[in-house]
Amino acid sequence: MAHLRVENLTKTFHAGGEPVRAVGGVSFTIERGKTLALIGESGSGKSTVGRLVLRLVDADAGRVHLGDVDVLSLPPHRVRAQRREMQIVFQEPFESLNPRMRVADIVAEPLVIHERGLTKDQRRQRVRDVLDEVGLVDYGDRYPQGLSGGQQQRIGIARALITNPSFVVLDEPTSSLDLSVQAQVLDVLSQVQERHGLAYLYISHDLATVREIADDVAVMYRGEFREVGPVAAITSDPRDPYTRLLMSGFLSVDPREAPAPLQSAPARPGVDLNEPGCVFRARCVHVAEECSGTDLSLSPVGDTKMLRQVRCVRHDELAPAPDDVPRSGADPTCPPPDRQER
Ligand SMILES: Nc1ncnc2c1ncn2[C@@H]1O[C@H](COP(=O)(O)OP(=O)(O)OP(=O)(O)O)[C@@H](O)[C@H]1O
Ligand SMILES: [Mg+2]
Repeated sequence: MAHLRVENLTKTFHAGGEPVRAVGGVSFTIERGKTLALIGESGSGKSTVGRLVLRLVDADAGRVHLGDVDVLSLPPHRVRAQRREMQIVFQEPFESLNPRMRVADIVAEPLVIHERGLTKDQRRQRVRDVLDEVGLVDYGDRYPQGLSGGQQQRIGIARALITNPSFVVLDEPTSSLDLSVQAQVLDVLSQVQERHGLAYLYISHDLATVREIADDVAVMYRGEFREVGPVAAITSDPRDPYTRLLMSGFLSVDPREAPAPLQSAPARPGVDLNEPGCVFRARCVHVAEECSGTDLSLSPVGDTKMLRQVRCVRHDELAPAPDDVPRSGADPTCPPPDRQER
């Protein structure tokens, strides 16, 4: 049985104005020692999934099991104890490190909260061990502002590891770093994963790092998974039209790059996304009648042992990718006129 099991996780935010359906029923599993990546454009719900699983945000519905623990049913006073098992590393390392504390104290802080029984010497040894794991054993007496971005992020990782978690959410852990430093941090993450059999939920905009670190990937769009399965299968043979645009390199979800065509192109008029149907239908070149009227669920693709699933109802009929990748200059999100009239 998989270590982390998430079923039908759902969250709508009501913060004034229109309610925002941030996560619309996602399900996935992660084995020990494995990484599932969530990739998708800004606002697609990736961080909310991570926060719901960790109970940093309350879910509207769904179930989360970590090992034998039914995480969403824990009473509030037990959530804190559970946190040592499930940690998070954030995007901006410096923001999560107190500039007035020494590195050793920053890293030790979760132990002070979660393992009060340790002696000072035991605590010091644990800090030393974990700093050693991230390659910063001599940095305990330094302050965070004296460290490079990559070193600060390794401190963030050490702090997440010190309670010996079995599951870690990595919320864009390298996106504020230079490319060369990104590689080092990903290496550290892979090494500690292997050593401790950690399950990772890796959140990213960046397909290249997803290919490097993840075993499985889920492509998110408007709070839903479009497609989920092994990274190699999905990157080489994407089946969902949205995933196909992403994997072809035509569409980028990286906010550091020029605006993605999908985000900048107007959606087809007259499509009310509050009505049931595929949430990508306003922008999809393959749209047909069956894309409206009922909400779509994920269906299995190909060899079911691979546990691949796709949202598009037409995935079987579409020509193999990359035939539908538009030639340069063409707008992939704007359907040809004959499609528009259907
Ligand atoms: N605490 C909150 N209150 C209200 N709305 C929220 C809250 N957190 C997230 N949202 C909304 O939920 C949606 C999903 O947000 P989320 O942060 O999960 O996206 P994301 O995929 O992580 O985006 P990014 O790539 O920019 O980090 C967005 O529309 C966001 O504005
Ligand atoms: Mg986010």
